[in-house]
Amino acid sequence: MATLTVNGRQVNADVDPQMPLLWFLRDELGLTGTKFGCGMALCGACTIHLDGTAVRGCQTAVGDAEGRSVTTIEGLSPDGNHPVQVAWRDLNVAQCGYCQTGQIMQAASLLKDTPNPGDDDIDAAMAGNICRCGTYTRIRAAIKQAAAKSQVTEGASR
Ligand code: FES
Ligand code: FES
Repeated sequence: MATLTVNGRQVNADVDPQMPLLWFLRDELGLTGTKFGCGMALCGACTIHLDGTAVRGCQTAVGDAEGRSVTTIEGLSPDGNHPVQVAWRDLNVAQCGYCQTGQIMQAASLLKDTPNPGDDDIDAAMAGNICRCGTYTRIRAAIKQAAAKSQVTEGASR
């Protein structure tokens, strides 16, 4: 049995430690915001954070998360107002929406490590997150908006 923290809550995972974290989150914990796309680390739909860094839930075993902190879209912000989520809404990024959880989690991880990303940074970080609806232009604009607003907020609070 693995013990991990999911969205701030300690969880005992009484499952095969080789079970993909994506399965555990969706089927055992009912956190269905994270999506299954390919199951092969090729699409990014299952992106979550492990200790604050984006990983693919379909390729991360429950046992790999032992003693670590997992964040899903449900826990990214207490009120759905993470700067990335706000920018996504402002710019109406989503089309069908299926890939968007993964896009948002990947973008939030990017901004944590690179608060003011350029186009190349965005392209490199987001390359593994596929959107069949082709929302890439709005994704890039939303990441830039989130970066700009985060810096204004941080500046104001100094
Ligand atoms: S479902 Fe995990 S990368 Fe596609
Ligand atoms: S919004 Fe439809 S797949 Fe990305």
